[in-house]
Amino acid sequence: MSQIQALTKRKSVREYHKRGLKAEALSFIEQAIRPPYAVANGDLVDIRFLENGTDVQTKLAGLAGYAGVMIEAPHYLAVFVEPTPKAYRAAGYYVEKLLFDAMEYNIGTCWIHVGQPEAAKARLGLETDKSLVALVALGEPLEENAIAKFFQRIKANKPSVYSPGGYGDFDVQYEERRSDRHATVDLVYLDTWGNSLTHDELEQRNLLEIYTLMKNAPSWGNRQPWKFIIDGHDIVLAIENNERGDVASDNLDGGIAMFYFDLAMNQRGFSGQWHPLYENNYRVPGDYTIVGKYTVE
Ligand SMILES: Cc1cc2nc3c(=O)[nH]c(=O)nc-3n(C[C@H](O)[C@H](O)[C@H](O)COP(=O)(O)O)c2cc1C
Repeated sequence: MSQIQALTKRKSVREYHKRGLKAEALSFIEQAIRPPYAVANGDLVDIRFLENGTDVQTKLAGLAGYAGVMIEAPHYLAVFVEPTPKAYRAAGYYVEKLLFDAMEYNIGTCWIHVGQPEAAKARLGLETDKSLVALVALGEPLEENAIAKFFQRIKANKPSVYSPGGYGDFDVQYEERRSDRHATVDLVYLDTWGNSLTHDELEQRNLLEIYTLMKNAPSWGNRQPWKFIIDGHDIVLAIENNERGDVASDNLDGGIAMFYFDLAMNQRGFSGQWHPLYENNYRVPGDYTIVGKYTVE
């Protein structure tokens, strides 16, 4: 069974033990947030660890979380960025990579929307010229062994470029986890916007699993705003603009999608890179933004 199936198990954790993370987990987080960040435009991102979760909840009540409702956790990350789309994407990519790797240390996580970034930054009182784009709740999941159970077989075996420990091989049955996820074919077009592919066509291109896995990536409000357009050996990613005009959320989601796509392609034996793309040769409609092109090498 393929390593790639780890991606299907990624889920947000919203209930945590009150106790803090253990030393090994804390040390992983400390290392992961130490710059430089291994992602394009990583210098535009600044991630801070907020150890005292209770203090953060008091300070940020009403300012962060969907409808101002914070998720209670023993610790948080504060994600600061230069307020530009490429920096939001870098943050989405790098932080999601961190959260994915964190599962190996039994660290549960959940992205938290920051509705009032200026006020929230002021309340936290941290010195930085960057903007607060998101928080992440961190802690041990309350559900017993939620993550550990799944990763118990993962420590050994194959090294991965994404994790010092490697994800290893483990044996799980893949199944569609969510009935509300979009059908795979809705995510992918061939050559031009609207030209959908069937499951069989995707399978023939060795891409069905990759796109299926993409549906498990987190996104703001679970919008899953991404569309992929196959252009020869390259893949273009477009993100639907949300109605709130919230460019930060869209591009965080974009960066998250880029990470999972990259990881999935790597683990399937393809290697490639995301590049910026400015022209629209694919008839992508105005309510979508092209955020990049993945070139297979
Ligand atoms: C940028 C961003 C902001 C988010 N903000 C919140 C939030 O404030 N509160 C929350 O409960 N979940 C938040 N989420 C988590 C999503 O709701 C979640 O990823 C999505 O519903 C899919 O569920 P899953 O992660 O369990 O697969 C956020 C996710 C992203 C990517």
